[in-house]
Amino acid sequence: MLDLVAGGGRHSRLLRDSGFRVRVVDRDVSALLPLADGRCEVRQIELEVDAPWPLGNWYDGIVVTNYVRRSLLPAIAKAIAPGGGALI
Ligand SMILES: C[S@@+](CC[C@H](N)C(=O)[O-])C[C@H]1O[C@@H](n2cnc3c(N)ncnc32)[C@H](O)[C@@H]1O
Repeated sequence: MLDLVAGGGRHSRLLRDSGFRVRVVDRDVSALLPLADGRCEVRQIELEVDAPWPLGNWYDGIVVTNYVRRSLLPAIAKAIAPGGGALI
């Protein structure tokens, strides 16, 4: 699972504590670092409009809430594994 622009990590925490492996991404990870463990990877990334998608593909699920950057939508769609889904 991928929690993109995770903020305080409320969805990351829910996913991790529900047993999912989750990659957590934000440009400010200060509130997210305490979540890091064997099931939760925290990555500090500045998502630039024109930069290549830095997060790989084949996520079972991607969560993006309270953040809009339309230029990222194709990369998000491509990063979802077959049968997966996105909550935007
Ligand atoms: C309103 S919060 C949303 C947090 C979370 N998704 C939620 O709903 O609780 C927006 C987050 O987006 C992050 N953010 C905004 N622009 C960003 C960028 N260009 N790259 C990475 N993170 C960004 C901010 O650091 C902030 O934590």
